[in-house]
Amino acid sequence: MDNANFLQDLFGMQGQVAVVIGGAGALGLCLSTGLGKNGAKIVVADVNEEACKTAVAKLEAEGIEAIYKTVNVTDKASLCELREAALALTGQVDMLVNCAGINVGNNFLDVDGDQWDKIMSVNLKGTMLSCQVFIEAMLANKDGGSILNIGSVNSARPLSRVFAYAASKAGVVNLTRNIAQEFGTRGIRCNAICPGFFPAEQNRKLLDAKRVENIMNGTPMRRYGDPNELVGAAILLLSKKAGSYITGSPVYVDGGFTASWF
Ligand SMILES: NC(=O)c1ccc[n+]([C@@H]2O[C@H](COP(=O)([O-])OP(=O)(O)OC[C@H]3O[C@@H](n4cnc5c(N)ncnc54)[C@H](O)[C@@H]3O)[C@@H](O)[C@H]2O)c1
Repeated sequence: MDNANFLQDLFGMQGQVAVVIGGAGALGLCLSTGLGKNGAKIVVADVNEEACKTAVAKLEAEGIEAIYKTVNVTDKASLCELREAALALTGQVDMLVNCAGINVGNNFLDVDGDQWDKIMSVNLKGTMLSCQVFIEAMLANKDGGSILNIGSVNSARPLSRVFAYAASKAGVVNLTRNIAQEFGTRGIRCNAICPGFFPAEQNRKLLDAKRVENIMNGTPMRRYGDPNELVGAAILLLSKKAGSYITGSPVYVDGGFTASWF
């Protein structure tokens, strides 16, 4: 291999297939675009069909091969349908990105049990079910598969007023490590990206002036992240060659938020 192809050989995803669940959301679409520009075919999977259609149109406009299938990540049968559709259309799923997530802010004494269950169900149970369903398919691949779960800075340090969300994201990192442990010798790697603050639909409503001040004071880089700043970490963790010895790792992409202690 000549030097010009060194990075392509190390990180390239030409001909591989990535299923991105929550792929129509802000971070999911950005990650889909990054993986797609790096050569992967993208299956956008999301509960919101209109947003799926828009996402596929945006990916295609970037020259990326993409299809969509609606899915409810809390429902195993729906995930199995997604897997079968993805396999029928693409032949093999190499990569899975679990990007579906929801959040609500409350004082602790106002936390409602049903709301708690809903957040846990999408963020934690959904991640577990989707890993289970797609690992079954990846075990049949001759070159295994790679999973990227999405944690949060809450995986390490719980933020105020997001009790279920913080617990769910701590769970996502614990689950990621446990899956890495179980499948370490069977060709499946499982890692997580833990983003800091990337204001989008889901979290913008939680960002009142006091919270923004606290976030900026707690972030050594003193700014929000741009979703494109997640792409490099995702490619590293998902790539068959560059990421080949990385499993069970949560990578914090947070401008230093979880590194700072004041
Ligand atoms: N934006 C941030 O600053 C930030 C920071 C840390 C972690 N995260 C995490 O990143 C992930 C993506 O967040 P985002 O900011 O892009 O939010 P988003 O709301 O834009 O995207 C989330 C997507 O998940 C989909 N979804 C919700 N419930 C679903 C279900 N039951 N089944 C399938 N899809 C479902 C939504 O339709 C949406 O498209 C989430 O897990 C979130 O917790 C985001």
